[in-house]
Amino acid sequence: HTENAMDAMLVWMHEKKGTADTTYLLKHTTSTLPATLTEIRYKVDVNTMRKADTEDPDLHMNEIGRVHITTHRAIAFDPYSKNPATGAFILIDRLTNATVAAGMIVDRLASREISSEPVSKNISREHTLVSDADRERLLNQKGATLWLTGLSGSGKSTIAKALEKRLIELGHASFILDGDNVRHRLNRDLGFSAEDRSENIRRVAEVAALFNDAGIIVVTAFISPYVADRTEAGSVIGQQRFVEVHIDTPLEVCEQRDPKGLYKKARSGEIPSFTGISDPYEAPESPAMRIATQEVEVAEAVEKIIAELRSRGILKG
Ligand code: ADX
Repeated sequence: HTENAMDAMLVWMHEKKGTADTTYLLKHTTSTLPATLTEIRYKVDVNTMRKADTEDPDLHMNEIGRVHITTHRAIAFDPYSKNPATGAFILIDRLTNATVAAGMIVDRLASREISSEPVSKNISREHTLVSDADRERLLNQKGATLWLTGLSGSGKSTIAKALEKRLIELGHASFILDGDNVRHRLNRDLGFSAEDRSENIRRVAEVAALFNDAGIIVVTAFISPYVADRTEAGSVIGQQRFVEVHIDTPLEVCEQRDPKGLYKKARSGEIPSFTGISDPYEAPESPAMRIATQEVEVAEAVEKIIAELRSRGILKG
């Protein structure tokens, strides 16, 4: 079968150093294709062959590094230990065509398969002495999740921040879960393969559900591009508490705004599988709400969402 993420050892062979998040050409057997060095996990001390103790994250001439690489399309490969011919590759600088590194594949990057049942059999459930109704009375609200979905640059974070601020002003306990932030901490092990995005959304839905259990109104700002993942999030959070809001901004507008310069990079091939460019965005067919950011101001969008929360009985008083 074919894969597009590998765990590998690299010997760096060029004066120009190797850095994470850089795209090279990867030559593997007879094919050459773009591949991104997504992570330099650690460097190996060539004298002891152990993990080197160093602050410098980059790979310099003659250094060996344990890395993660994502190829821009799936290829058939093996661990070098099983088959040196299909387990070896070289990396080439895209501009100069110079060979910069030689690589040995350790393995494919393990895909996570999480079953719906806990691995451990010897666990039971504890029930607290505080009920949902107790929390509702305390906070004057029901826990719920506003699930904002939309392209990168569509305005999810902007609306989420304004909404959170307004809810707090109105005396409601509210909290944002934002893709860029969560990916720095809880989900720092995840990239942007379809599998990793699903896992990203799965964990976020679990966290949102816990916040909702605590009575808090959560505003999420994740692209969450796949229908199946959002549907699953809805069932984890609970349909009564899940309010899907499509931040509906056309791709052209997002690309023109390009607040983080990522569309430009994606167009030039520097970012693999970028949503809207080289990876799909599956728009919701019947979201609870749709905000066309070209037609409404942020403040207006916020008021619409708050009105929806009132009408659903999520906000009281
Ligand atoms: S999701 O697809 O898994 O829901 P998430 O919302 O967490 O994505 O993260 C998206 C943010 O990560 C984007 O706003 C952008 O800043 C950044 N990003 C980096 N690489 C990509 C990529 N390949 N596709 C989309 N966004 C990316």
